[in-house]
Amino acid sequence: MAGDDENYPGSVKHQVSKLFEKSLEAIAPAIPAPPESDVAAFVVPLVLACSSGKNGDYQCNNALLICSKLNGDNALRLALAQDMMQNFPDSEMIESCSVGGNGYVNVVLSNNWIAKTIMKMLVEGIETWAPRLEINRAVVDFPSPNIAKELHVGHLRTCIIGDAIARLLEFSNVEVLRRNHVGDWGTQFGMLLELIFEENPNWDVEGQLALHDLAALYKKANARFKEDSDFKERAQKSVVRLQGGEVKYVKAWETIREISRGAFNELFHRLGVQSEEMGESFYGKYIPEVLEALSDQVKDDDGTRVIFSENLLGKGGKPLCLIVVKSDGGYSYDTTDLAALWYRVNQEKADWIIYVTDVGQKGHFQMVFEAAERAGWLPSAAGNDSCCPKAIHVGFGLVQAEDGKRLRTRDSEVPRLVDLLDEAKNCSRVKILELNKEKKSSDQLSEEELDEIAEKLGCAAIKYADLKNNISSNYKFSFNKMTNSVGNTALFLVKQYTRARSIIKGSDKDIRKLKETGEMVLKDSSERDLGLHLIRFTEILAEALSGFKLHVICDYLYQLASKFHIFYTENKVCGSTEETSRLLLCEATIVVMKQCFDLLGIESPARI
Ligand code: ARG
Repeated sequence: MAGDDENYPGSVKHQVSKLFEKSLEAIAPAIPAPPESDVAAFVVPLVLACSSGKNGDYQCNNALLICSKLNGDNALRLALAQDMMQNFPDSEMIESCSVGGNGYVNVVLSNNWIAKTIMKMLVEGIETWAPRLEINRAVVDFPSPNIAKELHVGHLRTCIIGDAIARLLEFSNVEVLRRNHVGDWGTQFGMLLELIFEENPNWDVEGQLALHDLAALYKKANARFKEDSDFKERAQKSVVRLQGGEVKYVKAWETIREISRGAFNELFHRLGVQSEEMGESFYGKYIPEVLEALSDQVKDDDGTRVIFSENLLGKGGKPLCLIVVKSDGGYSYDTTDLAALWYRVNQEKADWIIYVTDVGQKGHFQMVFEAAERAGWLPSAAGNDSCCPKAIHVGFGLVQAEDGKRLRTRDSEVPRLVDLLDEAKNCSRVKILELNKEKKSSDQLSEEELDEIAEKLGCAAIKYADLKNNISSNYKFSFNKMTNSVGNTALFLVKQYTRARSIIKGSDKDIRKLKETGEMVLKDSSERDLGLHLIRFTEILAEALSGFKLHVICDYLYQLASKFHIFYTENKVCGSTEETSRLLLCEATIVVMKQCFDLLGIESPARI
C-alpha cells in the first residue's frame, strides 16, 4: 500500500505512524540492542486504532516490543514509552500524547484537525480518500456460471463478492478486467447437442427454447450419458465435431450460448453486476501453445496426460493432479484454466488475477497456480519475490438454510436465483408498507415507487446479508432477518442514509455553498465520535483490501450508521446555533455512506 507522496497523505493511521516513526528514530540510538536483534525493526511503528477511545484514538505498542526483546521489566517498558512520548513531534493533527500504565503510548487527535480533514474531503471529493495500490491491472474472474444451466443460489455469492472486489479495486485506482469465464466448452455440450439433434434432427432453436427448457434438457442429457453407453459414445463424438468446427454443431452451440446469455444478463442486470463474457471456449486456441510450454511437467498416467501436484496428496498418498489431456484426447476444465491463466499473465498483463468461486475449488486453483509457478508465469510462492503478477483464489462458503442444512426449495431443489430475488423483493415490500403506515398521507408512496424501492431493497438486503460475513464462512440465509428494519441490515443502513438526506433537504440550505463557506466544529462527544469514524474510512479500506475482507467495510458502515443515529437523536440539527456545522457532518456521512454502498454494489433508494 502506498502512502508516501506529498499529495497523498495516506490514511490517518498511516499519518500517525509517520509521527511515531520520528519519535522512535529519535530514541533508537540509545536503545542497547542485543546482538541477535534487528534494531531497524524496533523503529517500525506498531500503531493501532484504540477500540474504546477511553485513553486515546490511536496507540503505539513499540515500547512493549522493544522491552520484550531486551528481556526488560515493567520499569524499562514505561521508561521507553516516556521517551517515545517526549520525542513525539509536534503536529497539528494531535491534541495530546500520553503513556498508559501498560506502556502503550496513546494519542488523541485534535478536533479541529478532524473537522478540517472532513471539510477537505467534502470540497475535493471522496476519491482523495481512496487507498492506493501499487498495481495497475487486475483480472477478477466471476461469476463464471455454466451455460445451459440456470443460475441458482450458489451463483449469488460469486456475483456479489466478485462484483464488490472489482469495485474495491476500481476505487483504489486499479484497472479491472471483469471476466465471466462461463463454462461453454466440453463434454456437457456434446451430451446436450446429441440429445437435441436426436429429439429434433432439424433443430433450430432460436426463440423457441427458454433457458428453463435448456436446463431440463441438460438434466435429461446428463442422465442418458450416465445410463446409455451408446449415447455416451455419440455425445463424445459430438464434442469432437463441435470443437472441430462442424457448422451444424457450432451453430446450435452458438444458439444455446445466446439463450443462456440472455437469461443470465437479465439477472446480472437485476443484481447490478457486470462482467465481460470470455468463456472457456475463448482459450481453446491457446491450448496447444500452453501445453507446449508446460511439456516438461506433463506426465502420462494410465492413458491420461496429467500434471502432478507437488503439495497436494489424494487418497492412498498419491499426489493429486490436473488432467490436461483426457484419455479420449479432449481437453478439460483444468487445461482451460491453465490456458486462461497463461493468457491473463502474458497477453492481458494482469498484475493480480483473482478467482471467485466456492471453497470447494481451492485444490484445483492451488494446482493451477503451482504449475504456473513452475512454468515461471507466476512468482514462486516460496520465495519472497513480491513482484507481480499474483494469482489469488477467493473461496466462499455455503449458503445455508436457517437450520444449518443446505438451502433447498420445498421440492428439495437448489433454489433458483430469480426466485430468491423475487422473494427478497416481496419481503422488503412488506417491511416498507409497515413503515409507510406511520407516514402522513401526503408522504405515502405510490404503487410504482413502492415497487421500485422494494426491488432495490430486496437486492440490497441479499447483498448486505452476504457481504457482512467472512467470505470463507458458511452463512445462514433468512429473508425475515435480512429485511429487518432494525439491527445490522441493509434496511437499517438505508433508513439512516435517507434520514441524513432528509435532514439536509428539510433545512432548505444550499449544501454546496455551505461546503465552501461553512465551518465544521466538533463539540459534542457524539459529533466527535462520528467525525473520527468518518476519517477512518481510508484505513478501513486498506484493511479490507488485504485479503479481501469485505465484511470489514460492512462493519464500518454499520458503525457509521449507528454513530450517525446517536448523533442526530442527541443533537438538534435544523434551527440550532450549530446548524451549519451539523449539516456538514450530515453531508459527510451521506458521502461516505454512499461510497460504502457503491463499494458493496448496493443501490440505496432515494427515499423509503
Ligand atoms: N464454471 C465454473 C463453475 O461453475 C466456475 C469457473 C470459475 N473460473 C475459472 N476460471 N475456473 O464451477
